Amino acid sequence: MDLFEKLIENKGPLGRLSILEEGYYMFPKLEGEIKPRMQFKGHEMLTWSLNNYLGLANHPEVRKVDADAAAEWGLAYPMGARMMSGNSKHHEELERQLASMIDKESVMLLNYGYQGIFSVIDALVDRKDVIIYDRESHACIVDGARLHIGKRFIFPHNDIDNLAKQLERAENLTSESGGGILVITEGVFGMAGDLGKLKEIVELKKRYNFRLLVDDAHGFGTMGATGAGTGEELGVQDEIDLYFSTFAKSMASIGSFIGGDKEIIEYLRYNVRSQIFAKSLPMPLVIGGMKRLELLKNTPSLRENLWKVVKALQSGLREKGFNIGDTESPVTPVYLSGGLVEAGNLIRDLRENFNIFCSVVIYPVVPKDVIMLRLIPTAVHTLDDVKETISAFEAVQGKLKSGQYQKSGVAELLQK
Ligand SMILES: Cc1ncc(COP(=O)(O)O)c(C=O)c1O
Repeated sequence: MDLFEKLIENKGPLGRLSILEEGYYMFPKLEGEIKPRMQFKGHEMLTWSLNNYLGLANHPEVRKVDADAAAEWGLAYPMGARMMSGNSKHHEELERQLASMIDKESVMLLNYGYQGIFSVIDALVDRKDVIIYDRESHACIVDGARLHIGKRFIFPHNDIDNLAKQLERAENLTSESGGGILVITEGVFGMAGDLGKLKEIVELKKRYNFRLLVDDAHGFGTMGATGAGTGEELGVQDEIDLYFSTFAKSMASIGSFIGGDKEIIEYLRYNVRSQIFAKSLPMPLVIGGMKRLELLKNTPSLRENLWKVVKALQSGLREKGFNIGDTESPVTPVYLSGGLVEAGNLIRDLRENFNIFCSVVIYPVVPKDVIMLRLIPTAVHTLDDVKETISAFEAVQGKLKSGQYQKSGVAELLQK
């Protein structure tokens, strides 16, 4: 069979959703400035998918520094990979500032979170080593582990007893192979908003010999007394051997970083293939990164505003009887019961009649017959936005329960 014919027919697990209206359900386009009210198909929508926890995306000082840096440097400088011709004193300065922020000896910048951590994982292990990771880890961790040619074990989400069993198994293997063990989890789990059980995991270090890598994409800037993340929040930052976060959330930019003891970061500089064989971050992202970090560190009111909105949203939803799971972070999932057809109709109703735009997550990411609406509150949302959203959610939940979303709309499409 022709390779392309097979692929085009099969479409892939997400490609099968292309039967849903493109530009509406899939690849929607939100237009205008990044702020709570954005344009979708010509209508203003209250938007809960900004990925901009602290509101820095549109902060006037940030916008100015970004624009000035772009004017001064363009996008081409520095020329190549860090190791060859892509280093600068500004890259090194941002690394020093990040290291001080997260209280680690050293930090290495990475291009993009996904490819950065994926390649860090690859650099950390060889065939003798064992990787153990949480079942609900982000795709970048799963895919990093997939590159590993040695053993990899998965523990059920936050199940510490099971993790101990996996560590036992892993130690049996590594005592023969002479390898080591890498445990990977998240600080804030990005889908459900619950925290990784970092305290319990570091406690296991007393019984087992392993190194811990934490992806804190959603925790950096939002969690902890200074915004240094979930390690700070839970008082275990010292015991996290490698702390990773992206610039794509609180920092409202692109790029990422990994921090730890000087020697292991030095090792990574020479061994992370996604950085050795790819161009380094362009200067506006580096200069703009320093501005964002300065605001993140020195403007606690940004985090206070965020948490004011988070608390109002989460307590308001709980008071109205919504199931928002075990979130302890700004990530706010709302679990409803229904299938794909109902999810499609509900989302259309929310957008067309209530002017609310949020992400919807369906099977296989959540169990069959669960619809997860995922809200990402930010420091720039208001308490009125919260009120408007909760009352819209009450209305659509009522329609969902009375069966109004079972027919019409996407139903016909799916039955084709
Ligand atoms: C937990 C987690 N890790 C990594 C990433 C990837 O980061 P980036 O968007 O910078 O590639 C994301 C999402 O963006 C994430 O949610």
